[in-house]
Amino acid sequence: MKILMCRPEYYGIQYEINPWMKVQQAINYQQAVSQWEVLYQTLLSCGAAVDLISPIKGWPDMVFTANAGLFFQGKIILSHFKHKERQGEQPYFKAWFQDAGFEFWNDPTASAPYFEGAGDALAAGNKLFVGFGFRSDRYFYEQAAYLKNSELIFCELCDPYYYHIDTCFCPLNDKLAIWYPPAFTKKSQEHMFKEIEFIPVIENEAKKFACNAVVLDNHVVLPANCPQISSELEKRGFIVHACDMSEYLKAGGACKCLTLRID
Ligand code: ARG
Repeated sequence: MKILMCRPEYYGIQYEINPWMKVQQAINYQQAVSQWEVLYQTLLSCGAAVDLISPIKGWPDMVFTANAGLFFQGKIILSHFKHKERQGEQPYFKAWFQDAGFEFWNDPTASAPYFEGAGDALAAGNKLFVGFGFRSDRYFYEQAAYLKNSELIFCELCDPYYYHIDTCFCPLNDKLAIWYPPAFTKKSQEHMFKEIEFIPVIENEAKKFACNAVVLDNHVVLPANCPQISSELEKRGFIVHACDMSEYLKAGGACKCLTLRID
């Protein structure tokens, strides 16, 4: 699997666009750098190939590459960030994709519906679980002609702490996923429940971003301090790698948000 990441050179909490972010609660820069390096090395050791985009000064959330777009059927669906605080990242990501030889399914204009990439769209087999309610618009998925032939599972988020679907749901393969049900409306919970088998994550571990995991075959890379879900996964034969993500939780992100799958 190929992944895109961005070193945290200019990472920090400079604004508040989700309830985890508090400008007062500064990050420890050295710790952020070493946590990122450990994650990077862990992904490499699990067999991932990692490409890097150069960080750009003034775009502190660019480290969260998951939101740059979605690799879908050989091409990239570009994001249209909801908040102006992140919109300036997009030209840099687009240029990187272009230089790397990717083609695009879309070319968002200023009036296009919002879509925050792999942070809000996760595939399990042929099904694409798409999140909406905070950052991405339901209408985005409905208007995209290139999504017409895929099986879209609409998942409505209802808790502002879990504002992207990758903060509360993670497919492990095409049959099994972990999730934190209260992050979804009752109607969406029922709908999702019919589509895949679920292992629920307890509130204490959901808060540690247990669902924000990177899955590489039978390896699951997830944030530290999630013992219960880790042992559930181990019981099912997965190899769990826990990474301390304390400095990224302050921005409302963790392992998965720091990666974007590009193959
Ligand atoms: N501070 C970033 C934001 O609010 C965190 C993004 C987390 N990314 C994700 N895929 N959940 O946009």
